[in-house]
Amino acid sequence: MLTVCSRIAVPYDDSELSKKALETAMMLAKQDDRIELDIITVVQVPTTVAYYGVYNDDRIREAHLSAAKEMMNAIEEKMKDLPNKTRTFVLEGSPAHTLVDFVKQNDSDLIVMGSRGLSGLKEMFLGSVSHYVVQKSTCPVYIVK
Ligand SMILES: Nc1ncnc2c1ncn2[C@@H]1O[C@H](COP(=O)(O)OP(=O)(O)OP(=O)(O)O)[C@@H](O)[C@H]1O
Ligand SMILES: [Mg+2]
Repeated sequence: MLTVCSRIAVPYDDSELSKKALETAMMLAKQDDRIELDIITVVQVPTTVAYYGVYNDDRIREAHLSAAKEMMNAIEEKMKDLPNKTRTFVLEGSPAHTLVDFVKQNDSDLIVMGSRGLSGLKEMFLGSVSHYVVQKSTCPVYIVK
């Protein structure tokens, strides 16, 4: 249940709708400075052999993680004027499963996320990550579209 002391989780993949979700969560946080914001991006390192011989896996992994950390630094900068407690996370794994585990472990009260993300195929209203999170999450989900 959303209360004035809620902890809001924002799954972020740098898509336009995840940017809108972040704006929405920041607008909610402005209603009460006891609301806490957690912004999470999940890095899934590709395991394709197409890279073999050009880069080793560790270098690919490091490149993905460091790009994600830079993205989170920009978000921290964006949120720095909020009086609210904010945290950013770069996690590794399957985005859908990792996000559902995160909200369980961190007692999130609300998830604010986009209906679609980076792949943006329009035939279905929800992408695979938002679809899974809506089905499996233990708290309410606010879908931005
Ligand atoms: N790797 C990720 N880390 C954190 N949040 C994510 C990630 N991927 C998606 N999201 C969140 O889920 C929302 C919906 O994205 P989703 O990935 O489900 O759609 P899609 O990219 O259009 O489709 P799909 O990935 O199934 O091909 C995004 O707006 C974002 O809030
Ligand atoms: Mg996606």
